[in-house]
Amino acid sequence: MKRILTGIKPTGYAHIGNYFGAIRPAIELSKNPDFDCYYFIADYHALTTLKTKEEFEVYSKNIACAWLACGLDPNKVVFYRQSDIKEDFELNWILCNVTPKGLMNRAHAYKACVEKNQEAGFDVDNNVNMGLYNYPILMAADILLFETNLVPVGLDQKQHIEIARDIANYFNNKYKKVFVLPEEYIQKEVQTLVGLDGRKMSKSYGNTIKLFGTEKELQKSINRIVTDSKLPGEPKDLDCTLNKIYKLFATESQQAEFDKKLAGGLGWGDAKKELFEIANNYIKPMREKYDYYMSHFEEVEKILHDGAEKARVVARKVLSDVRKAIGVEK
Ligand code: ADP
Ligand code: TRP
Repeated sequence: MKRILTGIKPTGYAHIGNYFGAIRPAIELSKNPDFDCYYFIADYHALTTLKTKEEFEVYSKNIACAWLACGLDPNKVVFYRQSDIKEDFELNWILCNVTPKGLMNRAHAYKACVEKNQEAGFDVDNNVNMGLYNYPILMAADILLFETNLVPVGLDQKQHIEIARDIANYFNNKYKKVFVLPEEYIQKEVQTLVGLDGRKMSKSYGNTIKLFGTEKELQKSINRIVTDSKLPGEPKDLDCTLNKIYKLFATESQQAEFDKKLAGGLGWGDAKKELFEIANNYIKPMREKYDYYMSHFEEVEKILHDGAEKARVVARKVLSDVRKAIGVEK
């Protein structure tokens, strides 16, 4: 049986890119009886970017309810909040001491900040906190603490898994072979979703469609999808952003029918109405569950609490092995 582990950090409201790119595939994997799945809310990772207590609370609650509304079954998946696993932060410190600083200098997220600062003529470390700098070490702790074999992530996270493997090797070589070496699990069929403006859908570009907004919000986001200026009656490019988003929600026959309509000159206004209909029908049953969990959050708290209890059984064992290996525990 393989241990599968992944986390999502609550840095904004979950969007349909997160759903199709991460949440849905992770839930599909959890239905495979060969996999023992650990999914968590990486709330302490979100601290590197969140500005207020309110943001922390609102986004953590949103992602917890989103996972459950999208079909995560807490009887099949160990589902927990990172901040509830204190062992993670002890391991984080221990791992800091086997991690060469140069490895962190080469991490993509940090390098991107440095480059941005250089271009703007600022000090290289302007706006960089130590949380951002050490981010990959905490992520390695998240993974190594649970004897993880496979980590399902998007391509953007590949380097972080490689770093986790490097850190595991540094530790295993320095002390004793305690850690299982994790591998990234990048699903080929999971595509990168485009946002309203045609770029990758991302909170940082402000081009997202919220997964669990109201119907009105969904309508408003769809109306903001950037189109060309072709008039009704003129054939539309089937490769356009609107069609790419439509396809996510449609069956094959619905896709073919919509292609035909666009090629036949369907106006953008009508196309947006059709997209709203299909997206809303798809999301509606999940939105109802989401609303339920949001208004019965004590049930979610209980699920997360029970999940943390289960997770800690493994975490305590691995941390104890680590403590013994370094000589702090007999
Ligand atoms: P964002 O870019 O909006 O900040 P995150 O980095 O928090 O999103 O992503 C959380 C998860 O959702 C990751 O596993 C990531 O790969 C996935 N994801 C985010 N945006 C997309 C997208 N546009 N297409 C596919 N997957 C995505
Ligand atoms: N860094 C991941 C992201 O930005 C979130 C994350 C934190 C994670 N810890 C993890 C993912 C451990 C997989 C495993 O999406």
